[in-house]
Amino acid sequence: MKSALFSPYTVKGVTLKNRIVMSPMCMYSSHNEDGHVQDWHMTHYVSRAVGQVGLIMVEATAVQPQGRISPQDLGIWNDEHIQGFQELNRQIKVHGSKTAIQLAHAGRKAMVDGDIYAPTALAFNEKMKTPVEMSTEDIKETIAAFVEGAKRSKEAGFDIIELHGAHGYLINEFLSPLTNKREDEYGGSTENRYRFLHDIIDGVNEVWDGPLFVRVSANDYHPEGLTAEDYVTYAKWMKEQGVDLVDVSSGAVVPAAIDVYPGYQVGFAETIKSGAAIDTGAVGLITSGLQAEEILRNNRADLIFVARELLRDPYWPRTAAKHLGVEIESPKQYDRSW
Ligand code: FNR
Repeated sequence: MKSALFSPYTVKGVTLKNRIVMSPMCMYSSHNEDGHVQDWHMTHYVSRAVGQVGLIMVEATAVQPQGRISPQDLGIWNDEHIQGFQELNRQIKVHGSKTAIQLAHAGRKAMVDGDIYAPTALAFNEKMKTPVEMSTEDIKETIAAFVEGAKRSKEAGFDIIELHGAHGYLINEFLSPLTNKREDEYGGSTENRYRFLHDIIDGVNEVWDGPLFVRVSANDYHPEGLTAEDYVTYAKWMKEQGVDLVDVSSGAVVPAAIDVYPGYQVGFAETIKSGAAIDTGAVGLITSGLQAEEILRNNRADLIFVARELLRDPYWPRTAAKHLGVEIESPKQYDRSW
């Protein structure tokens, strides 16, 4: 059978061998608060490359120490981080996968010692710390940290950069009116709430000419929150700034009960793809080759991000190919009739 899932995808000169992306997943496996790549990261990511994933996206990686979700997060806030990522990239690429890194700042959801920062001094819930409202200087420093992170990502040899604008972390906190109550040029109107992400993209564009993705939470699941239609506006602006693909997740901006079911976020990816004429990634309870094939063939998204199913089955692309009746390559060491 002809398959969309196993067709290549090219963006700014980078060709993925198929449409399967290993969705970013924090491993909380760095030691001593140092943010460095460890043996675990090598084993974890490289085994999915052996399993024939087209694009391996490294987990949320902090651009500043106070932007870590936990003290065990990966980091890219200084030059000493580059070497570990270079080795990780080298080992993944041996197997023909391309690589991406998700640059992140946890904002008010950071669980680290000391002050934490957000657009507005509102805690996520009663168990979390109340963040310090960022000054204009804090904002400029954080934008600069994303740009430095992008520069180091390039040096480390990543093919693609994704900015983490979802799940109620810092960029998302600026975008949503539920978490951004500022009255300066970074809050208030839709355009002002976009300014932080706008300035990060502009800065990254100065140091990076490869493919740029942005992950968003396309629904706040709150009556006064944002919906996929609001994200069509943001996605149009991202497209004007040269963003190549919007990776469409949802929620976690404020505590909310979410009704999850297979493909529950695919409709949001479809709305943004058709509304903003930009490529999208679909993610969320996509677990079978047939389900992925349906999404791509019906033009609902361009890439399929798989998270938990790739934890259960590192060779999921092989499982999906078998399901779809498609022959795919194996590492040559396995490619024998045993
Ligand atoms: C995640 N997720 C996630 N998302 C993200 O943008 N950055 C991250 O670092 C993480 N970390 C993370 C860790 C673990 C252990 C899980 C299970 C999930 C969310 C993930 O990328 C994905 O969007 C969701 O898990 C939904 O997809 P699945 O799991 O239904 O395929």
